[in-house]
Amino acid sequence: MHRLREAAAGCHGCPLYQRATQIVFSSGDASARVMLIGEQPGDQEDRRGQPFVGPAGGVLMRAIDEAGIDPTETYVTNAVKHFKFELAPRGKRRIHKPPSLREMTACRPWLAAELRLVEPEVVIALGATAGKALLGSSFRVSKERGVPRPMPALDGSPGEGTLVATIHPSAVLRADDEDRAQMYAGLVSDLKVAARLLD
Ligand code: URA
Repeated sequence: MHRLREAAAGCHGCPLYQRATQIVFSSGDASARVMLIGEQPGDQEDRRGQPFVGPAGGVLMRAIDEAGIDPTETYVTNAVKHFKFELAPRGKRRIHKPPSLREMTACRPWLAAELRLVEPEVVIALGATAGKALLGSSFRVSKERGVPRPMPALDGSPGEGTLVATIHPSAVLRADDEDRAQMYAGLVSDLKVAARLLD
């Protein structure tokens, strides 16, 4: 994993490295049974060099814990490893922009290499970008969430284990006040599906 991280730090596979502070590769246990895959680092992750250390990470860690998965026994990564953003008009705030298909494709060999090394029993795709990175552009999180399916092979990774997709934790943060509790409960319920696969 160390060598993979070092190699990724010099990645110029797409232009996102030019504006990001640094690569955000992964965190957690390289022998974990569970791999969590998000979209891309956010503002705080970009500054700190660690995935899911901002507000979405707070929601994710609480939901994982509530679902009965030990957060310290997970490997956490993203489909795209550099922060993509635009500057807010007249401000310095960096606003997240979704990665393009080209950026996702350029980053996929890193994800495939992580899958080969970690060999997780359960992969959890958090949101549409992670789902599309693994299953292709026809993936729809609203239709396919919470249903275990065989993990597909990805650029030379063997396609072992089981994949469960769910919503991205930032969707909980973006939800209207009246919808937020239900969105969060849905996230936990999908994560419980993944937790049961580990029994
Ligand atoms: N959102 C993601 O998808 N990944 C992170 O690391 C942080 C926020």
